[in-house]
Amino acid sequence: MVAKSGRHFLQIPGPTNVPDRILRAIAQPTIDHRGPEFAALGKEVLEGLRAVFRTSSPVVIYPGSGTGAGEAALVNTLSPGDRVLMFETGHFATLWKDVAVRFGLEVDFVPGDWRTGVDPRVVEAKLSEDRGHAVKAVAVVHNETSTGVASRVGEIRKAIDAARHPALFLVDTVSSLACLDYRHDEWGVDVSVSASQKGLMLPPGLSFNALSQKAIAATKAARLPRSYWDWQQMLRDNAGGFFTYTPSTNLLYGLREALAMLREQGLDAVLARHARHAEATRAAAKAWGLELVATDPREQSACVTAVLTPPGPDGDAVRKVALERFDLSLGTGLGKLKGKIFRIGHLGDFNDLMLAGTLAGVEMSLALAGVPFRKGGVAAALDRLAAR
Ligand SMILES: Cc1ncc(COP(=O)(O)O)c(C=O)c1O
Repeated sequence: MVAKSGRHFLQIPGPTNVPDRILRAIAQPTIDHRGPEFAALGKEVLEGLRAVFRTSSPVVIYPGSGTGAGEAALVNTLSPGDRVLMFETGHFATLWKDVAVRFGLEVDFVPGDWRTGVDPRVVEAKLSEDRGHAVKAVAVVHNETSTGVASRVGEIRKAIDAARHPALFLVDTVSSLACLDYRHDEWGVDVSVSASQKGLMLPPGLSFNALSQKAIAATKAARLPRSYWDWQQMLRDNAGGFFTYTPSTNLLYGLREALAMLREQGLDAVLARHARHAEATRAAAKAWGLELVATDPREQSACVTAVLTPPGPDGDAVRKVALERFDLSLGTGLGKLKGKIFRIGHLGDFNDLMLAGTLAGVEMSLALAGVPFRKGGVAAALDRLAAR
């Protein structure tokens, strides 16, 4: 291990680099969470988050991780034995399915190859077959962080509508929020699940549910056990800017700052930046002669690029060199992809030269790890970045 100097390159697909501005905001004295100063903060962040989800409905903030918000989406809307349609797009979809099964939901888990997203045609076919409307919810992961495959949520909505099916639509946006185009209201999403540590540029520790009026109505009849995650008291308390239990006050300072940064940069410009960096990363992988996990160009993620390593030294060997020699953290392969890939995170607070440095680190690590590849990926990416 070389003695460390300069900044660590945290290029895993979340947690992402936390901007200094946000770190400074978090480092303010903690205040009384039942006092008037907190109420103003609470109202501001609860309101500000709506713009990021593109919703006019309430957003609930939990002191918790994304997994908790995923559980919250299920337990607030469903009852034991309810049928749920889910899709095996990768590791995080599988984990969410496991939560649903543990709660006694009957999951129709459509198998997948971990290289493609949810097929809207399958959604339409499955729901059209369900004439008795036994399926109570369709739950999908927007951006599969484990594979770099982004499902087409707008098209899935259209498929649900084409089947004229009343199922609730639950979407995990943990790694897509503020990175990929996402429209909670326009796409008729009932519960969006998200977390702080990816596109929102915050440390881990906050998670979110954006709701719809249909979801709020569903919670009144939903019988799955819940307490900590229950929306009902939270929504009552949130109306005054307060929380039902002690909130993560300092992370909320950070959230206020993150929302200000997103407003200053403009959400559309932030999304365009992510798309541009993803394109340059794909150009690098292509020049290296390495295959991406995501096979369909329409589904290649703007947040993370998962790269398959050819037979020989595996993805974790590349990651080891990257960390030890260049102080660069890359994402590991999860679940079925363990050892077969490495993942380059290009989301959150990021710029052209950070990407250039990241890709330079990857190219040097590929060579040092002994992976068979062609040089020239960095040059190809730089050409893309310089072009526009
Ligand atoms: C798409 C997706 N869903 C869910 C999760 C789980 O979130 P957490 O680890 O914050 O519980 C993650 C974490 O990376 C994720 O990427």
